[in-house]
Amino acid sequence: MGLNGLLDIELRVPEPAELVAFWERRGMTHHGDGVLGTADRPVQLRVLHGDYRHLSELHLSCESEADLADIRDRLAGLGAEASISDTRLTCTDPVLGHRVSIDVGAPPPLGPSQARATNLPGGFDRSNERADAVAETDPRAPRRLGHVVFGTPRFMDARAFYIDGLGFRISDQVLNGVATFARCETDHHNLLIHPGSVSHLNHYAMEVDDVDAVGKAGQAVLAERDDSSVVGVGRHNLGSNIFWYMTDPSGTMFEFFSDIDQIVDDEAWDRDHRRDDWEGSDGPAGFSVWGPKEPDRFFNQPDLPEIGAAREANGLGS
Ligand SMILES: [Fe+2]
Repeated sequence: MGLNGLLDIELRVPEPAELVAFWERRGMTHHGDGVLGTADRPVQLRVLHGDYRHLSELHLSCESEADLADIRDRLAGLGAEASISDTRLTCTDPVLGHRVSIDVGAPPPLGPSQARATNLPGGFDRSNERADAVAETDPRAPRRLGHVVFGTPRFMDARAFYIDGLGFRISDQVLNGVATFARCETDHHNLLIHPGSVSHLNHYAMEVDDVDAVGKAGQAVLAERDDSSVVGVGRHNLGSNIFWYMTDPSGTMFEFFSDIDQIVDDEAWDRDHRRDDWEGSDGPAGFSVWGPKEPDRFFNQPDLPEIGAAREANGLGS
């Protein structure tokens, strides 16, 4: 079966306490040492000090020890080394430079969804009551880390590592590999790799309950820093998720998202929906079906030259 979960990520930033406090204000719990999570998933983000903002570890899960051996063998075929100790494989992303660790296991299950009563034309399930989103006082906390996105000039090398090596399953691709959406769970994407001037973490994405939760959580961030919105609110074409992209206090982009496509039948998706030759800018694979459509700052983040210089200084190349 191979990979089955995105467990958590380790982020390195110059001011970790500031980032931890930011996510605590969003309703996450700090367990000490920069470890942030929620009731369902106590470990989702691990925030540590670094000289520049970057992702330092991607932590995944897979079904069995046999999967670890398969992954190690596939990586060896690509010239990448991996070591296995007990039920954990570790290796280094040859393009981005961060550690990848894979444990035998699975992400902790989420508690029941907290659907709100909704009134639709011809069918009411809320009468004589105000909407829950109006009545509740605090924005809802994120439920889980859903995906990460990497930009890199070496996107085909990165694609080979994640798809051919680690075994992420492709959901959709733009121009046969220029941008690759891939999954290790049932989400349409837990990973996206796209071209960029410098290898970097483009964003990490936190799933929330629904569009109201996206809007209210985003609004609360905006109230703290009025330049924190990057692009949103809208609904993506590929993945279908409702999105709002913002920057956290370290300058790293993150996403509040909801309602992403779920792929539970790989064969049916490949047969009926997957395309590898989507064109990128307009039409069905464009940035959004509604909402902003030309998100310049999404792909051209202002501190990329700084990240490039820090990577060079650390011997990581572009
Ligand atoms: Fe995203």
